[in-house]
Amino acid sequence: MKTLKTQVCIIGSGPSGLLLSQLLANAGIDTVVLDRKDRAYIEGRIRAGVLEQGTVKALEEAGVAERLHREGLAHDGFELAFDGDRHRIDIKALTGKTVTVYGQTEVTKDLFEKRIAEAQRFFFNVSEVAPYDLKSDQPCVRFRHENEDWTISCDYIAGCDGFHGVSRNAIPSEVLRTFERVYPFGWLGILVDKPPVSPELIYANHERGFALASMRSETRSRYYVQCDLRDDPADWPDERFYEEFARRLGPDVARTLETGPSFEKSIAPLRSFVAEPMRYGNLFLAGDAAHIVPPTGAKGLNLALADIRILARALIAHYRDGIDAHIDAYSETVLRRVWKVERFSWQLSLLMHQFPENSPFEKRMQRAEFDHLQSSETASRAVAENYVGLPLE
Ligand code: FAD
Ligand code: PHB
Repeated sequence: MKTLKTQVCIIGSGPSGLLLSQLLANAGIDTVVLDRKDRAYIEGRIRAGVLEQGTVKALEEAGVAERLHREGLAHDGFELAFDGDRHRIDIKALTGKTVTVYGQTEVTKDLFEKRIAEAQRFFFNVSEVAPYDLKSDQPCVRFRHENEDWTISCDYIAGCDGFHGVSRNAIPSEVLRTFERVYPFGWLGILVDKPPVSPELIYANHERGFALASMRSETRSRYYVQCDLRDDPADWPDERFYEEFARRLGPDVARTLETGPSFEKSIAPLRSFVAEPMRYGNLFLAGDAAHIVPPTGAKGLNLALADIRILARALIAHYRDGIDAHIDAYSETVLRRVWKVERFSWQLSLLMHQFPENSPFEKRMQRAEFDHLQSSETASRAVAENYVGLPLE
């Protein structure tokens, strides 16, 4: 058995774990980071694409925003479309803020590059990860790495290991409460090296289902259609995808659609999920380990990194100033914001998708909500305020 000591042991090397290790390192706090995958795999995972201003600020503070400022695309608005009618939400005019299009893959690459340059201790391809003694002042994490058993003892454990990680379930079942909604459809997404069909994102609700026109750069597009959960990406050759996508976006948009061979095609299920509490003893949960939102409002990554900003501040207050009030308030503070973001993602998902169980009444309600957004600046501002990101408390 090999042993190691650190101040904070971080389980998971996705965006949450990486940003936490960077913010703590900047404050002189020692961490060890474990992941069951390796760097190349994590950098290659195609996921989110839209960053809130607060997320950009956090990446600036971490010292990893140079390429983001060079290559990210600032967006002043996005569109909602309903059966061919379009409504632009001018987020800049309504909130004074913008969002930035920059892929999660790039955020992870930038963070890895700096962590590795600063000689962060990582253990990749670990297995049998088990956090224990969570209530003691020296909690531990046991795992296997390259055929050896390891134990890391630390002051705190950060469970940043995503929805399928082990940290959440280390909280005793009589303490942990979970809340969940699973949606009866998925998103089929493709990446293609063609300029985006529109300079801004378009979220469309059409009688055949939802579609989203997004992008990663001026030459790379990310497109989605709502699909059946039983579908396989192989059921969707590019021709079928583009035909369906164009129909749902309507003829005005479709006219400018440039098609080409997709180089990524995958189906993501949609889920709303929250686990409470987000702290147990000296274990903290952050990011997808504690909550999932459907991707409709582009909140998943932003919400994860907002947790990390709050957690990093709390840990820094402990180590630098000897103040534990922020650590003690972590779960409550974070969950209040989490639920608001869950609400927004859920509501926008209800508005923009075709639900098999929806009655004609509910379809009329969706249309009435869209009409209300079109005619009310106040209603549009409420959407814009959530889209650009709610403030941290
Ligand atoms: P993750 O990125 O999941 O990272 C967790 C890390 O922990 C992983 O590297 C994993 O390998 C590691 N891990 C897991 N188990 C263990 C273990 N037992 N031991 C050690 N390490 C472990 N958000 C959006 O905003 N827009 C999108 O379009 C979007 N699309 C998505 C598509 C998919 C398929 C998924 C799954 C998510 C998507 N999201 C999207 C959500 C967004 O990607 C996540 O919110 C974000 O990745 C959260 O980061 P995280 O670091 O908390 O978790
Ligand atoms: C993406 O570009 O992948 C994306 C953008 C906005 C969303 C979801 C996904 O709401």
